[in-house]
Amino acid sequence: MSQPTTIKVLKDKKAKGEKFTMLTAYDSTIASLCEKAGVDVILVGDSLGMVVQGHNTTVPVTMDDIIYHAKCVARGTKSIVKMLDMPFMSFAYPSQAIDNATRLMQEGYAEVIKLESGEHQAELISDLSLNGVPVCAHLGLTPQTIHKLGSYGKRGKDSEEANRILSDAEKLEKAGADLILLECVPAELAKKVTESVSVPVIGIGAGRDVDAQVLVIYDILGASGYIPSFAKNFLAETGSIEGAIKLYVESVKNGTFPN
Ligand code: KIV
Repeated sequence: MSQPTTIKVLKDKKAKGEKFTMLTAYDSTIASLCEKAGVDVILVGDSLGMVVQGHNTTVPVTMDDIIYHAKCVARGTKSIVKMLDMPFMSFAYPSQAIDNATRLMQEGYAEVIKLESGEHQAELISDLSLNGVPVCAHLGLTPQTIHKLGSYGKRGKDSEEANRILSDAEKLEKAGADLILLECVPAELAKKVTESVSVPVIGIGAGRDVDAQVLVIYDILGASGYIPSFAKNFLAETGSIEGAIKLYVESVKNGTFPN
């Protein structure tokens, strides 16, 4: 069996300039294929609300939903880092956030928890981090706030918002975030953030100058009904799910995806 991937391994990869990969998975079969194909991190994302449960947004996803799918994923994997999403309103106040992060780690086997963030969560991230909970701070497009945002468009296009995203990333790293995830931001901003923080930055729709890429598994399999402009149907080129995941991993590592 290969050595387990850990947060430290991911941080060492950033230090060495080696790209790594993350994919969403919601069940043991896909999780096991991800592990075999060399994916570094599995995300049990609240995207499951849309691609598995058929909702229009991620808002209806509950803690129990994430834990159910995380248990399925855990049964299919041995050595891959498992990141679990904190669902909508599950971390709105500190004691609730700590209780729910504990559940994700104890019941869902999370090794990292991800929360849609901003500067206002610095104290919470510090509390979690001091208590041994690795945190990924999700910045840029935060789909849980869709009803406030009104659209899933790119964030950080104007200089005021771009500066805020950069400063949030720096503050949340200082607070103890182990990873930053940037969703749908301009490539130049993602590059700036990646150069400004020492923790790994994972991008989705954020260009190539980040430390790692993440995509939703159904997007790389062309099964989502449509393919977001930042994703690619890797199944079309390979003809098998295993081949598609392998090609995604190779393409990120050799810099041919995203192009
Ligand atoms: O829930 C999810 O799958 C995510 C990714 C799109 C980054 O947050």
